[in-house]
Amino acid sequence: MAWSDLKQPYVCLAPMDGVTNTAFRQIVRKISKQVILFSEFTNVDGLIRSEYVRQRLNYHPSEHPFFMQIFGNNPKSFAEAARMIEDRGVMGIDINMGCPAKKVVHSQHGSALMKDVDTACRIVEAVRSACSLQVSVKTRLGWSNADNLISFCRRLESAGVSLLTIHGRTYKQGFKGQASWDAIYELKNNLNIPVLGNGDVEDYYDGCQRMKNLDGFMIGRKAIGNPWVFQDRQKYPEPNLFTRISVAMEHYHLLRKIKPEHIALKEFRKYLGGYIQGFSHAKAFRCQLMEAPNEQSFLLLMEDMKAKVSHFRLSQAS
Ligand SMILES: Cc1cc2nc3c(=O)[nH]c(=O)nc-3n(C[C@H](O)[C@H](O)[C@H](O)COP(=O)(O)O)c2cc1C
Repeated sequence: MAWSDLKQPYVCLAPMDGVTNTAFRQIVRKISKQVILFSEFTNVDGLIRSEYVRQRLNYHPSEHPFFMQIFGNNPKSFAEAARMIEDRGVMGIDINMGCPAKKVVHSQHGSALMKDVDTACRIVEAVRSACSLQVSVKTRLGWSNADNLISFCRRLESAGVSLLTIHGRTYKQGFKGQASWDAIYELKNNLNIPVLGNGDVEDYYDGCQRMKNLDGFMIGRKAIGNPWVFQDRQKYPEPNLFTRISVAMEHYHLLRKIKPEHIALKEFRKYLGGYIQGFSHAKAFRCQLMEAPNEQSFLLLMEDMKAKVSHFRLSQAS
């Protein structure tokens, strides 16, 4: 499947480590049929060496169109990982060239590839020759400014990348400050492939407003515990609290299929702020859920909240 087979604008779930696993992606798909899903990143050498890491390749057929994101530094490892991923039948492979985490950059992975353009291109070429999947790259504006963005991305385009996503911050910025999209619009005028904008998108409407000459956008943090963020509000009403709690429970049960109880309970905390908000006592409920000693009490609390929904007042504050 090619990008041109998909409906524009390309509205995508951004890859987020520890967040966009198959359980969450299935929930996003349940709510939004058109969203293009990206997995959290996985290290290519880990994929080759470890059966445990390879479990991250598992996904549900409903997730299509689905991209698997990988990171690393060695073109040969990328080629081997690409063949494994192709066997799983995904739509494409996204290569991470933007992660600013110290551990990742010190190993010359992620953002470090913006400074090592030759290796970045060799990686793209290795993946392209190893498989017939679409190959995309997600990167940032640059190391400390956007001066090299166009030349870097032109090289990636020549190496065979079929789509680029740009997070509108530099490596140096990390997650600080506001994302700037101006250099992304300019980049698009200098390339022939689709370009997606990313950074600080609030919701579908905001993404469409920011998009301008781009081909689509990715939403990351605002989607955590809010799989409705991709919906066009002119077509779909805001989900009510009952729906939000029901979907949160469904999400938890999917997470349990891939994680043991104590890990699922801990990991699910990061989604609670998104699901359980906007009504009186939401904060108190979240605290109770966070402290639930085991799954049984967690699920009882959720059921209890669902039963009481009609008693809550809507509020912006909590
Ligand atoms: C918890 C977390 C994990 C992330 N993991 C990844 C990742 O695995 N791969 C990647 O390319 N970007 C990753 N990102 C960056 C996001 O994909 C996105 O570029 C960034 O959050 C900006 O978009 P947003 O403002 O919509 O969140 C991560 C971000 C967060 C908050």
